Amino acid sequence: MFEDTVTILANERETDAYFRLVVSAPRIAPRVQPGQFAHVRIPPLREALLRRPFSIFQVAGDTFSLLYKTVGKGTEALARMRPGETLSAIGPLGQGFTVPAPGGETPLLVAGGYGMAALYLLAQRSPQRGVVFVGGRRRVDILCEREFAELGWEVRVTTEDGSHGERGLVTQPLVTELRRGTTGRKLFACGPTPMLRAVARIAEEFGVPAEISLDQPMCCGVGVCLTCVVPIRTATGWEYQRTCTEGPVFDARVVLWEVPE
Ligand SMILES: Cc1cc2nc3c(=O)[nH]c(=O)nc-3n(C[C@H](O)[C@H](O)[C@H](O)COP(=O)(O)OP(=O)(O)OC[C@H]3O[C@@H](n4cnc5c(N)ncnc54)[C@H](O)[C@@H]3O)c2cc1C
Ligand code: FES
Repeated sequence: MFEDTVTILANERETDAYFRLVVSAPRIAPRVQPGQFAHVRIPPLREALLRRPFSIFQVAGDTFSLLYKTVGKGTEALARMRPGETLSAIGPLGQGFTVPAPGGETPLLVAGGYGMAALYLLAQRSPQRGVVFVGGRRRVDILCEREFAELGWEVRVTTEDGSHGERGLVTQPLVTELRRGTTGRKLFACGPTPMLRAVARIAEEFGVPAEISLDQPMCCGVGVCLTCVVPIRTATGWEYQRTCTEGPVFDARVVLWEVPE
């Protein structure tokens, strides 16, 4: 893990509210594992001391990129930054996805919106190609379809309004696929919490292993403040674990979606 001042090389709109930021980060980029994140301080933000977490989307040599959606003051300030300006980034952080072993399970990726960002490196580094199920409310929420297809993955799109791909929720084609067979398959998911919860339930129902990346608000990002804790099942009961250090990727079977009484 490094805390570095990174220089913006590009920061361009992808679709609608989604942007792609590329930074030069020679110490962080080469060390990134799929599913890890960077904790970024955005200087134009008045409360700049509070960093924002983003999955590391792509890595190329000494650079990495983020794919982010403008949802509030931090991401809106980030979208106004220009090439040549600098940011402070801590990374790579967290426990990422387990890359399938050669000849191992076939991965089925499930992404909602910017969840695609957390899954790209896994798709790139997996020795087996599989299927990526991507869902969003509207066509503009479907990101990187072409880039996953160029890696040799089959991409199945769903939108809630039917403006692109199949109409409905991303879990529908996933269930159809699992009904065809479950042996030798594993799910990897990133997206909004209701989607992750549905994926965890489907994994349990079909008896398929699953890793999910939790999207939990964070402050310090390095295990100190306990803002990001979630209840996790253990051999003897349950305990709180930190999404920033023990996660953000967890085995779906151990995530408790409510705090036990
Ligand atoms: C491990 C991890 C990886 C992430 N990766 C990405 C990514 O690749 N791309 C991306 O666009 N975003 C990602 N996020 C979410 C991102 O961190 C938040 O959208 C961002 O912090 C919002 O900052 P803001 O100042 O713009 O919004 P704020 O002004 O702080 O909040 C605006 C709105 O966004 C909501 N919000 C804030 N944080 C989150 C969050 N973590 N999840 C959902 N809603 C939130 C708030 O409740 C509020 O409604 C990730 C979060 C985590 C924990
Ligand atoms: S964000 Fe501070 S402990 Fe996880």
